Amino acid sequence: MIKQKQMYIITLFVLTLMWILPAFPIINAGVEQDPEIIEKIDSLLTIMSLEEKLGQMTLVSSSFTPTGPVLRDDFKQLVREGKAGGIFNAFGAEYTRQLQQIAVEETRLGIPLLFGLDVIHGYRTIFPIPLAEAATWDPDLIEKASETAAAEAAASGVHWTFAPMVDVTRDPRWGRIAESAGEDPFMNSVFARARVRGFQGDDLNKLNTILATAKHYAAYGAAEGGRDYNTVDISERVLREVYLPPFKAAWDEGVRTFMTAFNEYDGVPATGNRFLLNSILRDEWGFTGFVVTDYTSIPEMVTHGAAVDTAAAAAMALHANVDMDMQAVVYLEKLPGLLKEGRISEKQIDNTVRRILYTKFELGLFDDPYRYSDTGREEETILNQDFLGTALEVAKKAIVLLKNEDQLLPLSDDIEKIAVLGPLADDNFHPLGSWRAAGRREDTVTLIQGLNNYISDKTEIVHIRGVDFRDTSKEGFKEAVELARDSDIAIVAVGEEADMSGEAASRATLILPGVQEEFLKEIYETGTPVVMILMAGRPLQITWANDNIPAIVNAWFLGTQTGNAIAEVLFGHYNPGGKLPVTYPAEVGQVPVYYYHKNTGRPKDPDYRFTSKYIDAPTSPLYPFGYGLSYTTFSYDDLKLDKNVLTPDDTLHISVSVTNAGKFEGDEVVQLYTRTLAASVTRPVKELRDFKRITLAPGETTTVDFFLHPSQLRFYDSGMNYGLESGTIKVLVGTNSIDVLVAEFELELK
Ligand code: NOJ
Repeated sequence: MIKQKQMYIITLFVLTLMWILPAFPIINAGVEQDPEIIEKIDSLLTIMSLEEKLGQMTLVSSSFTPTGPVLRDDFKQLVREGKAGGIFNAFGAEYTRQLQQIAVEETRLGIPLLFGLDVIHGYRTIFPIPLAEAATWDPDLIEKASETAAAEAAASGVHWTFAPMVDVTRDPRWGRIAESAGEDPFMNSVFARARVRGFQGDDLNKLNTILATAKHYAAYGAAEGGRDYNTVDISERVLREVYLPPFKAAWDEGVRTFMTAFNEYDGVPATGNRFLLNSILRDEWGFTGFVVTDYTSIPEMVTHGAAVDTAAAAAMALHANVDMDMQAVVYLEKLPGLLKEGRISEKQIDNTVRRILYTKFELGLFDDPYRYSDTGREEETILNQDFLGTALEVAKKAIVLLKNEDQLLPLSDDIEKIAVLGPLADDNFHPLGSWRAAGRREDTVTLIQGLNNYISDKTEIVHIRGVDFRDTSKEGFKEAVELARDSDIAIVAVGEEADMSGEAASRATLILPGVQEEFLKEIYETGTPVVMILMAGRPLQITWANDNIPAIVNAWFLGTQTGNAIAEVLFGHYNPGGKLPVTYPAEVGQVPVYYYHKNTGRPKDPDYRFTSKYIDAPTSPLYPFGYGLSYTTFSYDDLKLDKNVLTPDDTLHISVSVTNAGKFEGDEVVQLYTRTLAASVTRPVKELRDFKRITLAPGETTTVDFFLHPSQLRFYDSGMNYGLESGTIKVLVGTNSIDVLVAEFELELK
């Protein structure tokens, strides 16, 4: 009894101390930690029981919108007992307030909960999927989109997003390509930074910012066969040069949390991988934030065959400095026993609790645990007009024009009748893509709704779906064919269902699902000009369509503003300028096919058999990385380097003149690549170094400048030393990764 009273007094004392300590300046924790927060945490640690500490290390899903198997439905009870410090998959100001109340009012120490959610491409205002966002090649705009998502989520009680996903992937069979910025390490790094800035802002204490997560650490995108959760087996050089840079970039931008990946790396599951988590993340990079596992990935280390039981798995994770256990509740259950046996130490536990509590302080939760759960602010913030405006801008900029024979597009206002067909013609759900957070189908502008918003009085729209996504029935074909035959233009919207990409959505084929291609063929055979709208979360193998359909618009999954964005493009209110952040294969058997490949000793020569190619399929992709058309054309001239010899302390100034040679104002993404011709280890045939999206009026010419610093040319040599070597470097500048102007210089080390 006395003990309890004493404890109560100590708690009161510590909490009072915390309230009265002066307001702390928020410093970028990516660099420095605030000593006052540390002091408060140390005081708190002195009164926390082991179980309370383990509670802070436990994150459980609410039953609201689970994103994996629900293993326990007692999450509220865990909170009540102080055994869970974070809840994910709970959102809404009202609901999060109720849950927060349990933690604050019913537990001994009243430590506030942290609410996490997968806010991947918008919260309620849904933006294009991340792959599509990357197709804008406009990181500033994507920063703004992430800012919007953070503002909405933060007003609905969410403190923490499990984004950005920064996994480079070269395999479109892997469904999670939809969540990434595509195949290139530089692109993924640029967008990782933009998203972290957007979510976290410059002050996590502000009410419109949330914690971000760099995930899935590491190399998850290299899953063998493109099969989700599968084994990864890559060299350390590839790990460091291709898969790690976006994570490092996210940390350089101050990302507060990392999520471990499901896969193994070099035989050790990422969640217990000390090389990845201790040697690289903590020791080399100095990461000071906290690491959360992916969903139940601690016990999965037993299934991997890396730990004999869950206790051993928990020890492995803790020794790798994994701070928070998502959904498995094994830290809570197994660490006390391990502690008793001396297999782990209380110091290790304190260190992880310190890192977790630090973020709760940064968010201001100890000042007011309910500050993010404000129904009034939620109502004002959600779906506001500015946010919808940003979503429209991103959606338009993400659209990639893949083909436009004889300038079929843009459509004239005088067209009398348009048939709009296909499973995505009037669908309000699938364009939201996977990971929809609080997105609602009723908010989506469908393609037909969008067209109706932009058509002139002279145009009539007729519609029938005609075909389903996967159902192979052809019952609707006849009526669709009749409508098409009787119309001036047929717009056919085909593609994947939203959840055919994203997590656990790997595909072994990349064709249009079901009988959609046959449908497309029948509509094409009517002779009515066809515009194909492709919506999917990955590159699809649309070789037949590319050979036959005159106009193809890649509209990914564009989110809430889908219909308006596509309509603006189709009617020429907006000239598309997006470019592919990923290579489109001509045949699934080419995969992995990506621009950043090595030359080999026998590069493809169509006239010589014994070279690197296929005998039954093309070797070149259908559309290369960086590709995308416009209603206008751009010409490139006068590629200039300001020097022929570059030394390590100098910077190379590269300039190129770009002219809008057509009749429409338009955007062009000017891309800079380099190639190191010979080195002690072979280098890729091209590496993206920089890019700029510019807008030019018809006839306008501009000079685009790039500055290349030798440090950008560093690589790992055979001894895994990161540095430079003298030699000839090619500079390639152009409209995509194939069509480039070329110059060269010598890199000379003193
Ligand atoms: C599993 C996914 O791999 C991860 O990306 C996500 O953040 C968690 N589930 C939580 O939903």
